[in-house]
Amino acid sequence: MIHKVQPSKHATSRRSFLRKGLTVGAAGATGAGLLTNGLSLQAFAEEGSDSLTKGDVAILRFLSAAEILETDLWRQYNELGGIQDSEVPGGSGSAAYIKDMPQYIHDNTEDEMTHFTFINAYLVSKGADPVNLDKFRTLPSSKATGAQHIGRLTNLMQLTVDTSWWTRYRSRTQNPDFGDTFPQAIPGLKNGKFPAIPRHDGDLSPNDHIQAIANTAGFHFGFIEQGGTSLYPSLAQRVTNPEVLRILLSIGPTETAHFQTWHDKAGNAPALKDPTNGLVFPNLNASPFGGEDFQTNLIMPEPTIFLSRKFPVVSIIRPTETEGVAMGAAKALTDDGLFIGQSKEFFAVLHQLAEEADAARRG
Ligand SMILES: [Fe+2]
Repeated sequence: MIHKVQPSKHATSRRSFLRKGLTVGAAGATGAGLLTNGLSLQAFAEEGSDSLTKGDVAILRFLSAAEILETDLWRQYNELGGIQDSEVPGGSGSAAYIKDMPQYIHDNTEDEMTHFTFINAYLVSKGADPVNLDKFRTLPSSKATGAQHIGRLTNLMQLTVDTSWWTRYRSRTQNPDFGDTFPQAIPGLKNGKFPAIPRHDGDLSPNDHIQAIANTAGFHFGFIEQGGTSLYPSLAQRVTNPEVLRILLSIGPTETAHFQTWHDKAGNAPALKDPTNGLVFPNLNASPFGGEDFQTNLIMPEPTIFLSRKFPVVSIIRPTETEGVAMGAAKALTDDGLFIGQSKEFFAVLHQLAEEADAARRG
């Protein structure tokens, strides 16, 4: 109960204070794309409503930050490998890069944009502060033809991709919530720093090099979206307000829809060795890979242990342990290399958002 913000005079005055503050904030945010469909943040704030618990606000704010970061990385993919249109503007494409999934990249990007835009608008409607990470858009863009030259929040050019999600979802006997660990599908991706987008036009050849970059992206898509797939149900267990719970239960499964799609697509990544750096994408259907742990047409979650080994195995999202999940997500994204080059202040803000979300308690 100590995290609950009581609906009091204090809360009312806090809301009106925030409303005034947001009038200025909304004007400043116009150029940052925070406003959609002609609705200003101020309009949302004017609706007023019962205040949320401190914990619910913290969970929504962490999710907003995560969605802003996801949007930033997906925009970079879309500029070079997706469809550039009025829904997802920016960039002009790179014909040599990803040729076979521009619609999916576009749609995934648009989904992430709507996730943070909605969550921020909802926070404002409850008199809470939205999240804005614009001052951390300092990382360089790709110099390859097709990319915009703007500051970024995330770095897709030095990734160390954890591909254990591939084997984790194929295991019938193990679950990360029981402390189990899982082998990498693409061990090379965990042992170095690799670009997932062309860094410059020199990366567009030879063919096995640009294909390796596209393959890296393909497995990175799965890594990112399985993270969201676990994050929402993990945090939902500590939400108090039924409407906030509804938000988490409605957005979370769209991350799972993305994950399932990318899980399927990653299986099409051709086996090859990048001649420029030795990165190997093995044939996952052949020895020493192959079998249920690796076979590429097995893309739905295998049933596995859940809660206790005394229960029968069940097909589930994994992990869903709630303790420390926000900081775990921040660490996973950091270990991925996404924030290479970011400032100390960026990490301080990210860690504070994660700490506050992890401190949230239901009720
Ligand atoms: Fe999302």
